[in-house]
Amino acid sequence: RADASEFVPDSTDLDRLGEASRGCRGCDLYRDATQTVFGAGPKRAKIVMLGEQPGDREDIDGEPFVGPAGRLLDHALVEAGIDRGQVYVTNAVKHFRFTERGKRRIHQKPSRGQIVACRPWLVAELRAVRPRLVVLLGATAASALMGPSFRITAHRGKVVEAPAEFDGHPAHVLSTVHPSAVLRAPDRDSAYAALVEDLAAAR
Ligand code: URA
Ligand code: SF4
Repeated sequence: RADASEFVPDSTDLDRLGEASRGCRGCDLYRDATQTVFGAGPKRAKIVMLGEQPGDREDIDGEPFVGPAGRLLDHALVEAGIDRGQVYVTNAVKHFRFTERGKRRIHQKPSRGQIVACRPWLVAELRAVRPRLVVLLGATAASALMGPSFRITAHRGKVVEAPAEFDGHPAHVLSTVHPSAVLRAPDRDSAYAALVEDLAAAR
């Protein structure tokens, strides 16, 4: 089965990885998306924030978390006392998956196959950055890193051990909701407060 591995160079140089990711054809998502959206942030960040996939805005700009969810995440990080400049931000899947409805592009969740296909990029990023902690933003991020049986509802806001394959980098993960889920929540204020509280545990 095809995945990203044949496109991922054996390198811990983030620039080189990012460059190579632009040519990835490890799954079908490169066909309709504008571009690959690789991670961004300091090369030796202690914390990695892992989202789902780029959104409409990110697909156009080529940068992770620059749209509405990214703005919400920025505010939440400030409130939690975490400097976004010290955080490396990336996504489980590096291309935007959507369906077209008229002129609008509607976000579609990546499939399990696409999450698995894209994982070699995530593993390469973590080998390069060597963070202490990965914050899993939502179910897609959690299943990409921890496997499909990991339940956010059971672990949210708690620091748990990362899989042994990462050799201590990260040693731990912390899961919470995705910022887009906060934007959609009926009680947005309390959903936001809960996100900030979870992020504060990362600090
Ligand atoms: N949502 C994500 O999961 N990632 C982004 O980069 C933007 C929105
Ligand atoms: Fe490659 Fe990931 Fe894009 Fe699929 S989503 S083409 S695996 S970078």
